[in-house]
Amino acid sequence: MNQFMFVSDLDNTLVGDEEALKKLNRDLEGHRKEYGTKIIYATGRSLTLYNELTEEQSLLKPDALVTSVGTEIYLDTAKSEPDVEWSEKLSVGWKRELIVEIAEKFPELVLQKPSEQRRFKVSYLINEKAAIETLPQLKSELKNNGLEFNLIYSGGKDVDILPVNTNKGLAVKFLQQKWGFDSYTTVVCGDSGNDIALFSTGEERGIIVGNALPELLAWYKNNSTNYRYLAESFYAAGISEGLKHFKFM
Ligand code: GLC
Ligand code: MG
Repeated sequence: MNQFMFVSDLDNTLVGDEEALKKLNRDLEGHRKEYGTKIIYATGRSLTLYNELTEEQSLLKPDALVTSVGTEIYLDTAKSEPDVEWSEKLSVGWKRELIVEIAEKFPELVLQKPSEQRRFKVSYLINEKAAIETLPQLKSELKNNGLEFNLIYSGGKDVDILPVNTNKGLAVKFLQQKWGFDSYTTVVCGDSGNDIALFSTGEERGIIVGNALPELLAWYKNNSTNYRYLAESFYAAGISEGLKHFKFM
């Protein structure tokens, strides 16, 4: 057994089956103690909503926390300020106010709650039917204004607009470089649209849990390769299945 970097989304990936999570936690904690394996959570939640989740669920303390769809990295989760080196990279060319102003013209887009509006993330809700027409229009309107951005649609309802040089996958690359891991020694796990970047940024070993949403399953089918594994089991049990498949555990 060797050290590896374990990266997982939280909602409906790591979290969803309490018993399976407890078992996986024991295995991961053991591996971390013995081999120095790193545990990273990569979530769409803000730090505020992450803290709420930790009160409801028994989560291990991660070695790093990636929040708000990759726009914030916390190397010390006790601190409320995200990593400055990462923030500086994202601020180049990011015009948050202009994005908000343009998006306001689309009544189908409803702003998410204030805790989820972040320095490098503007988030809306939209219904699935309206998304088909509105999102391409929104994208071209943003482009026509000379903006560069990353627009991520997930869960059939959430729209996140981020700086062009960030998403969950790019945040993971930043941590890999910091700690000296590569795609063979990193495993990423997810269930929905905002996790596609985890699977597609490099050639990380990927685990798609059995309960993954159609948006991720469709992407997986069009991008099949032997370094991505679609588990049969759901939630944390699917992760354990995948870790065995790749022989990390
Ligand atoms: C989480 C965040 C939300 C985001 C969604 C999808 O639910 O709280 O702001 O839109 O993930 O990335
Ligand atoms: Mg999820």
